[in-house]
Amino acid sequence: MSKKILLEHAHIEGIETFDTYRKNGGYEALEKAIKTMSPEAVVEEAKKSGVRGRGGAGFPMGMKWGFLAKPEGVPRYLVCNADESEPGTFKDHYLMKTIPHLLIEGMIISSFALGANKSFIYVRGELMYVINILQQAIAEAKANGFLGKNILGSGYDLELVVHPGGGAYICGEETALLESLEGKRGNPRNKPPFPAVKGLYQCPTVVNNVESIANMVWIINNGGDAYAAVGVGRSTGTKLISASGHIKNPGVYEIELGLSVEEFMNSDEYCGGIRDGHHLKALVAGGSSVPIIPANLVYKTANGEDRLMSYESLSDGGFATGTMLGSGGFIVFDETACIVRNTWNFSRFYHHESCGQCSPCREGTGWMEKVLHRIEHGHGNMRDIDLLVDVAKKIEGNTICPLGDAAAWPVASAIRHFRDEFEWHVKYPKEATRPGAVYMGEAEL
Ligand code: NAI
Ligand code: SF4
Repeated sequence: MSKKILLEHAHIEGIETFDTYRKNGGYEALEKAIKTMSPEAVVEEAKKSGVRGRGGAGFPMGMKWGFLAKPEGVPRYLVCNADESEPGTFKDHYLMKTIPHLLIEGMIISSFALGANKSFIYVRGELMYVINILQQAIAEAKANGFLGKNILGSGYDLELVVHPGGGAYICGEETALLESLEGKRGNPRNKPPFPAVKGLYQCPTVVNNVESIANMVWIINNGGDAYAAVGVGRSTGTKLISASGHIKNPGVYEIELGLSVEEFMNSDEYCGGIRDGHHLKALVAGGSSVPIIPANLVYKTANGEDRLMSYESLSDGGFATGTMLGSGGFIVFDETACIVRNTWNFSRFYHHESCGQCSPCREGTGWMEKVLHRIEHGHGNMRDIDLLVDVAKKIEGNTICPLGDAAAWPVASAIRHFRDEFEWHVKYPKEATRPGAVYMGEAEL
């Protein structure tokens, strides 16, 4: 049984209410931080914990907090990125609707640590009911003196604003999110300057993911060192994983980092294995933005080591070569999945969601979608396959924000690992486009 840091109380009936949350130890970490610790001491615990950004990039949270500029007389902001939109990722949604006070308590502790008096939770706009749940939790926290003016008599004031997202995937990119919060179109900004120096309204801003902030409650209750003792190596703590696809038990799981991928996939405590009568074909381990890997690389790395659920073990990423833990969107494909169709589907998504600011992404995502569409629909030729790789290569690393890479990697990795399937679509278009047809190897024809 994996250690639970975030979801320990998630199963308790009524845990979304203030009273039940409080009865189960809620807001004790906040009392401890505000009454007995300095803001610097809270930042120190975050650093000691080694907790890394849970939105996808895995950047050390304490280090990011340490980068926050503190010019005299200039306000600082904490912005929670709750615009979760990565295909295959739904863990922040689950956390916010199930145990909203954990996020609110984490927000207050983190805002206190950073010296922010106004903080924002930018929630995916489609999740109106979650926005209502958070508003209710904020009202309850305020009514009980944990939020608002002079929190717990400490002299510290905090206003917490929940803001509905703009309805675009790109608004989850941190600088696009800030633009959207400012009331503008959600176009990513060039970095540097990073938000820690010039963020919301050009003021120093920390942008953290929901899960990252929620971790602060346990970290303050138990200490950064205790958090760092959970997990493996530089992948400390636990991680929420959204598991979907051809498995027996799809859902959101909290795992201790370092658990083997094989155990996560096959144990009844988690995914429960591939559905009966089928076998594993491929895995996207960290949301649609990360490279896809074939079955033979799922449980073992290219070096033959056991593959672990950790940033390092899943980090042989990059252009078409490996995979990444990313946002923990664990999408499993069995042999009935058509990789070409799936790749086209991902491409269609990125083309639609590109903000259009930079040409490699704006044009490249469109080309990839068109070429994949024609291969999938029986009009492709062999040169198209290399053309896709070429376009993907030209996008990677040449764009303002990571959406370009996110669009390129799934295409390049699918071709690297499943080239024969793309070729089969070209060679036998009628066969490949027959409803329900999937490549099972040339011998099947
Ligand atoms: P990034 O690596 O550019 O930045 C990570 C964080 O560290 C940012 O907050 C950045 O401001 C900060 N940072 C990095 N270097 C810094 C420096 N020198 N000084 C100050 N701050 C610094 O990655 P990014 O763009 O934030 O996230 C990309 C990831 O997001 C992808 O890996 C993808 O998996 C994930 N993603 C998640 C989604 C979701 O729904 N959860 C949606 C789309 C992407
Ligand atoms: Fe916009 Fe794509 Fe450029 Fe990002 S990479 S700024 S989404 S055009």
